[in-house]
Amino acid sequence: DVERIADYLIDQFIERGTADLLNEYAKLLPLLLFNQLFGCPGDIGDRLTRSMSAIFDGEDVLRANAELTECLMELVAIKRRQPGEDITSWLIQHPAGLRDEELKDQLVMLMGAGVEPERNLIGNALLLMLAGDEPGAPERRGSGLLVEDALDDVLWNNPPIANYATHYPVRDIELNGVTLKAETPVLISFAAANSDPGLTDARQTLSKGAHLAWGAGPHVCPAKSPATLIALTAIEKILNTVPDLSLAVPASGVAWRPGPFHRALVALPVRFTPTAARRAGNGVQAPAQTSAQLPDPFRNAPAAPSVTPRHAQEPAKKQKGWWSSFLDVFRV
Ligand code: HEM
Repeated sequence: DVERIADYLIDQFIERGTADLLNEYAKLLPLLLFNQLFGCPGDIGDRLTRSMSAIFDGEDVLRANAELTECLMELVAIKRRQPGEDITSWLIQHPAGLRDEELKDQLVMLMGAGVEPERNLIGNALLLMLAGDEPGAPERRGSGLLVEDALDDVLWNNPPIANYATHYPVRDIELNGVTLKAETPVLISFAAANSDPGLTDARQTLSKGAHLAWGAGPHVCPAKSPATLIALTAIEKILNTVPDLSLAVPASGVAWRPGPFHRALVALPVRFTPTAARRAGNGVQAPAQTSAQLPDPFRNAPAAPSVTPRHAQEPAKKQKGWWSSFLDVFRV
């Protein structure tokens, strides 16, 4: 599924020679993947992608939340009538016998917990790999890095969820002279724990996975392995399909999104040699959200050579959403 979605997204910009790999790839890939996993029909998937994306970008959140609820309730109703091989149907069939409202909440939680960290894992690791040995790059490691090692480095040094996981001590606890009161929320900083100077030696010698990026204990991220596989596949796919990918701005100039919880890029502008799209350009209508509506990360970058995208030559038609456009390419 990740490979097909990655192919589709790459086709949307491969003829241009420039892209914003954060907003046009790392962000959309997990959103479309959840459409697939949930078994969404075209229209519901378009609304789900739009509303979930708006919530994480802080755009008209109340309206987006209402749209999210509405389209997931519709999805649950459809799957009750016509079950398929998808997560929504499996949740409905579970012996727990969840009500519609509970099913909707499970889907929101699953997708909400997955899309934001996944996009940050992919985006942060791509930045690290593309930064190479550039002086002033945010990271220490250079070109020739394996994707697995880049992911590991990100989980240590730029954890996609930097601070989160509110825990409640069950009794008063003394920690380094500070009393943590029973039943008082404690927000854990995974980023701070990972970068504790006291860990420096241990970090070089101990197991690579000894960081806290997935949390720990009974609420540790249950999707650790699939989430790693999704990121690994997405990164390998873009690096193999567009081999001469390079950053379009100095790595040190790439902006990070403000906010207390995530370690997330604003954009990841890249350039490469434009080539013909393989499938999505083939008479299939491009989705409504094109690069024109995305943040412009190329303002200060030198122009890259470009071919005119095929869909730009076509007369204007009613624009489709990301998910229904994907379904036109890959009948799933
Ligand atoms: C397919 C992608 C993912 C899904 C579906 C997913 C799902 C979840 C869910 C359902 C929880 C709540 C677990 C609970 O409270 O019992 C959770 C927790 C968490 N996830 Fe993930 N996750 C995904 C990817 C990621 C990624 C990429 C990261 C970052 C490396 C991450 C980091 C965390 C953290 C830090 C927690 C909180 C752990 C704690 O409370 O100590 N997740 N995840």
